[in-house]
Order: sequence, then C-alpha cells, then structure tokens
Amino acid sequence: MNPVADKPELAEPYMFAWLASLGLGVEYTRSKKDSLYYRDAGGAEIEVLDLVGGYGSTILGHNNPELIEYTKSLLDSDTPIHAQFSRHPYANNLAWTLNTIAHREFDTDENYAVIFANSGAEANEVAIKHAEMDRMLKIGEALAEVEAHIEAAVAAVASGATVDASPLRGSDIDEVVAALRAANAERAATPPVYLAPVGSFHGKLAGTIQLTHNFAYRTPFIAMAAQCRFVPLDQPDVISDAIAAESRTLFDLAVDGDAIRVVERPLPVISAFVLEPIQGEAGIRILDAGAVARLRELLDAADIPVIVDEVQSGMGRSGAFFAASHLGLRGDYITLAKSLGGGIAKAAVTLIRSSRYRADFELVHTSTFAKDSLSTLIALRAVELLEADGGAVYRLAAQRGDKLLAMLRALRDEFGDVVKDVRGKGLMVGLEFHDLSGSASEILAEQARGGLIGYMFSGYLLREHNMRVFPTASATSTLRFEPSVYITDEEITRTEKGLRALITLIRAEDGKTLLG
Ligand code: F0G
Repeated sequence: MNPVADKPELAEPYMFAWLASLGLGVEYTRSKKDSLYYRDAGGAEIEVLDLVGGYGSTILGHNNPELIEYTKSLLDSDTPIHAQFSRHPYANNLAWTLNTIAHREFDTDENYAVIFANSGAEANEVAIKHAEMDRMLKIGEALAEVEAHIEAAVAAVASGATVDASPLRGSDIDEVVAALRAANAERAATPPVYLAPVGSFHGKLAGTIQLTHNFAYRTPFIAMAAQCRFVPLDQPDVISDAIAAESRTLFDLAVDGDAIRVVERPLPVISAFVLEPIQGEAGIRILDAGAVARLRELLDAADIPVIVDEVQSGMGRSGAFFAASHLGLRGDYITLAKSLGGGIAKAAVTLIRSSRYRADFELVHTSTFAKDSLSTLIALRAVELLEADGGAVYRLAAQRGDKLLAMLRALRDEFGDVVKDVRGKGLMVGLEFHDLSGSASEILAEQARGGLIGYMFSGYLLREHNMRVFPTASATSTLRFEPSVYITDEEITRTEKGLRALITLIRAEDGKTLLG
C-alpha cells in the first residue's frame, strides 16, 4: 500500500511510518455512507465499515448523495467562491438558520452574531480572542471610570477635602494619584486565564492547545499563549477556589463627603470557561447536568462567559442539534465545525451571544477562506438536511445511538472483566477497556504502558474484520464510535462480531494475534 515506491514519503513522514507499523497505513480510494474502500494487492476492492466517521465529520455519511449533487450544481453554475468583502446573503442564511435552531433548543429569543472560520480549533480561537477583546474593553471601561473618579477627587481636594493614601503611599493627592495609576497599569496587564474541565480538548492551534488538557500536546507550547486551569466539574468548591485564586482588583478613589479614600474594584482576569457538553477526546464523557447548572451559577456570579465547544458533539450527533441543549446550558459562545461541512467542506462558525457581542471584533479578525460561498452553502444545505422533516435526523441519531449503545452495554455485561465501561449519547459513543499494563502478555502490557493499546486494537479490527475504529485522542484505552445516522442494524451486528473477537483475544491475553 505504499503509494509511489520511488518517491520518499515527505507528507508528514513520521505519521505515515507509524500508521504503517500498526497496519493502519491503508490508502482508501472510495467512500460512501459508512463505508471506506481500498484495493488489496490483487486489485480487488475491499469494503471497510467506518466507525470513525471522519472524526465526527460525517453525521450525514461519506459523500452524501444530496450534498454531492448540490455541490456539483454549485460548481457547474460557476458560483463565485471567493468574493471577499462583498455582500454574502448565503452566510446570513446560515447564521439565521443556526439562530432559529438555538432559539428553539435553548428556549430564548436572544440572537447570536456569527463569525466564520475554517476548522474547529479556529472557531475556538475566535471565541477566546473575542472573550479576551471583551475583557480588555471592560478593563479599559473600568480605567476610564477610575480616571473620572480621580478628576472628581482632585476637584474635591481643591475645595478642601482630605485624602487618605492607605493602602497606597503619598502625602498629597498628586502622589496618591501617581501611585494609583502605576499600580493599576501593572494590575491591568495581568495575563488572562481560562478555566476548563479536566480532560478538555479544544484544538491544537497556539491558543487552543493551552485549553487542551493532554500534557504531551500542550506542554511544549506552554510559553506561547494564555494559560488554562483545569478543574474537576464535580467539585464546585475547587471551581470557586480557582475563581477566587484568580481574583484581582484595580484601585479606585471614592469621595465620601470631605474624605477621599482609596478603594478596590474587581479586575476581570478569567477570560472564559471553555467546555465540551460531551467530552470527546477525554474518552466520551457526558457532562453532568447538575454540575453544569452549579457551574453556570458560579460563573454568572463572577460574570465569566461560557464557551460551549460543540465542534464534535453538535450538528445532531447527540439527538439534538446542540448537545448542550440536553444540559440546559445556553453558551455565551458556541463553536461548530466537523459535520457542519456535511462531510465535504471545511466549515466552522463561532456563535456569540448578542448581549456580549463586540462589533469591533469584525474589524480585527478575518480569514481569507472563511465564509467562502462553496463551504458556507454546503454547510447551509447540511443544516437544512438535519432540520428536514421536523428533525427526523435527530430522532434517527438518538434511535441508532440507542441501538449501538445497547449492543455495547450487552458486551460490557458479558465481558465485565475486559470491558470497563460503555458511555455516550446518540452517535457519540465510547467503550473503555480495563487497564492492561499489568497483563501477563508482554505485548499487551507494553502497548498499554506506552498509551498505544487502542491503536493496536484498531489495527487488529481493520486487518481481521474490515472495521475502522480509533481510540479517543487523550484516553487511548477507549474506542470511539461515531458513525453516520444511516448505520444499519446489520452494520451494528458486524461491529458486535468484530468486538467480540477482539474481546475474546484480550481475555485470552493473546497479544501476538492482536499485534498481527
Ligand atoms: N474541539 C473539539 C471538541 C474537538 O474534538 C476537536 C477535534 C477540535 C475542537 C479541533 O477541531 O481538528 O477541526 O481543529 N477533535 C479531533 C478528534 C482531533 O480527534 O476528534 P479541528
């Protein structure tokens, strides 16, 4: 399966070698619905059941026929794809449609402004940049108020008021004002901090990688961007402590009759709380609705916005368009990507609640490719397909997901010594294996200790059962299942057969057969 033998591998060469070593370096030549196809050495086409689903991008299946036909029609009619800085009614149609869905699922009539991006990480970068711009503008507004109070204090001193410098220093109003301004300048420059639940995954760009908990991905780039504190969502005390630990103040002056005092006012430092309603890369973990409600109270009290990352969980996968709607969590920001492009285009958006929206953001954040007509129109059509027939696709996602979960739960019940847990909602499902680092099989123990065991299982399932399944990125003993809504009963049975064989080999500690 080496594509061109006489050319050295230069396209991310290490990755290719690693995938090849696990038997995963297959070149797929065709895809449809939940199937990918490759050609074997003899040229015969082999069908593979794809449960990875483009890492969550193909809720409507690979090469969805309606979306393909529509895309062709756009290209055949010479649709202008790149006409930046002109009127884009199609983008407004998508923004409108997404707002209609948000109004319905979150029972609100507040609008979201929509900013366009090209990938999930980029949509999250838009959200954190906007939150930071909002924080900086708020600091600027607070400092302007402080200046107005300084002016009033100076006038009061001229009319005979006296100033108490404490806790600053200074023997007259000029010295106190100078000390106050110097202290405020230093405090206002405090770098922003983000909060996120333990296990979070929000992308791998310079800013978002700091919101991604995985140590190996995050730490090489720690000096590049604002830091995130990872908090356990089920421990509200720890979250309140984290908020308190990041609390800072600005100095201000208060005129009280003839006395002028130095007072303190809050300085916003925590830019946002970022979360996935169903954590994907942490091993498919649904956030607890009670914990989320308590979190929202704490954040509202401190005026900290919530960025809800629906890059993986959104677009119907959970049985509703927004997975956060099951938790009753209306984000201040909502990000979408992956299946938004209908499995064809690269499309991403950031929804920003009107009450927090800073219109100037549009002047400072743009991207050449974001909002191009081809991907935006495909995204709009994909959303229309999701919304068609009163949400038939959402019902299908819930129903297919229940079927898949029931099959996996039966396996857990039967093989509790091998399968530790089965979790998920709709078509975002995970199966976690017990830790094998103490296995009697050297191969299994070594792979488990190296954090690669899930990929070894992937290699086995592909090789022996023509099934494509991958582990979650930061919890590699959990296999993820994210097929399209069109997965059939027969395909679920096929999945069961492959997993049964895998589990049987794990139980027998047959590392050799698994490694192949
Ligand atoms: N947010 C979430 C919740 C994700 O799962 C991902 C990607 C991203 C953001 C970043 O999106 O790749 O388009 O920049 N998850 C991939 C995965 C890596 O394994 O499912 P991106």
